[in-house]
Amino acid sequence: MFTEENLRKVEEIKKRYPTAKAAVLPVLWVAQEQFGWISEEVMHYIADLLGVPFSHILGVVTFYTMYNRRPVGKYHVQVCANVSCMLRGADNMVEHLEKRLGVKVGQTTPDKLFTLSEVECLGSCGTAPMMQVNDDYYEGLTFDKIDRLLEQFRDGKGDHEGKRAEIRTQNEESKG
Ligand code: FES
Repeated sequence: MFTEENLRKVEEIKKRYPTAKAAVLPVLWVAQEQFGWISEEVMHYIADLLGVPFSHILGVVTFYTMYNRRPVGKYHVQVCANVSCMLRGADNMVEHLEKRLGVKVGQTTPDKLFTLSEVECLGSCGTAPMMQVNDDYYEGLTFDKIDRLLEQFRDGKGDHEGKRAEIRTQNEESKG
């Protein structure tokens, strides 16, 4: 099921850990990069590949919110709903995103462009409220900032481009 390249990656990962069990998280990440989400079939595949009980794989996938247990849109918008973000208006940000995207938390837009999720603390409490879109963080959220970001994504700008654009804007602002 893994591509040849990813099978090589898995072998490299296994070399870095003392046991196959310890390599489960990064191998699951490789799987998510290839398949977009972790289905039960993929969990069985990884259990067999690593020689680890399926129950262990299932435990890991259901514990960490970074693993998608359902197919997600091109942009997976994950809003932190933990204490610091909540105190700084995360609920309002979620509500705003729901309105702008026309979906509720846990749903994907009909065009499969966006999936909206709420997640636990992403370790960026100092810049609350914040969200992660695919692999990138977007911090100090406001309604305007969210609107700008959604526009960028809809215009087909990749998440990394979006992040760099945000950083550039911040740097330019701080210089000014
Ligand atoms: S509470 Fe949101 S990043 Fe920690």
